[in-house]
Amino acid sequence: MGKKIKIGGLISGTGTNMDAIIKACDEGKINGEVIFVGSDNSDAKGLKKAEKKRIPTFVVNYAEIMKNFKHAPEDHFFPDDFDFEDIKIKQSLLNKETDILKVSTFIETRAIAEAALIEQMKAYPFDLLVLAGFMRNLTPYFIDRVNTTPGKPRIMNIHPALLPSFPGVDGYGDTFRYGCKVGGCTVHFIDYGEDSGPIIGQRTFPISDKDTIDTIKQKGLALEYQLFPECIQLYAQDRLACVKMTYTNDTGDISQRTVVKISQE
Ligand code: GRF
Repeated sequence: MGKKIKIGGLISGTGTNMDAIIKACDEGKINGEVIFVGSDNSDAKGLKKAEKKRIPTFVVNYAEIMKNFKHAPEDHFFPDDFDFEDIKIKQSLLNKETDILKVSTFIETRAIAEAALIEQMKAYPFDLLVLAGFMRNLTPYFIDRVNTTPGKPRIMNIHPALLPSFPGVDGYGDTFRYGCKVGGCTVHFIDYGEDSGPIIGQRTFPISDKDTIDTIKQKGLALEYQLFPECIQLYAQDRLACVKMTYTNDTGDISQRTVVKISQE
């Protein structure tokens, strides 16, 4: 067995996925150790759970940063390496029609918050960052500072729906409201969009007309606790590669798709 990978985690709420990952590390199902858990929210219950296991935690209070910025934008200093134009071009979280003030406030407040996250994480060099119910979209400012080797993404997210269906904050609710016959969860590497990066793994469950949002959530979470650790273990075993594959459609046009290839053990 190779060297254990160092895993950092970001959460916003109950942290039950983070817990499942920590447990999988303890049980040797992941060849890794969780070295920090950070949050955008000091009330996140998952922070307490990590502290109980003596895992270092930190908080970057996004809501406070945004509130302070709104009251006194002139009091804020942006990170030295902050390049507004570069981030504006790359970011695809807000569409191009969104008004410029909204886009600049979003990018600027996120850069302040994300620089604080990076500063906190400096104390804990990591191999992989897992977003385990972290309810903030990360901008290119943060992503480019973590993904420093081209073609080797190292931020993984779990999403409560079968992507690319139902991105956003309420995957199980959206699945239920649409009347889907199957639901599921997805683990993917993140890119500059919302829940849009290359897919590593997916699990599905059937939905009957007796199901409610609650039962769908229960079924989905039970699968999340298996799928996320399994995908992290594939990363720990260095078995994941993001590959650009070309294909030709019926009319002869050549297109590209990014596929995460999983190599055999
Ligand atoms: C999970 O359903 C996850 O897929 C989504 O947010 C929820 C987090 O739950 N991103 P928890 O904090 O892990 O309990």
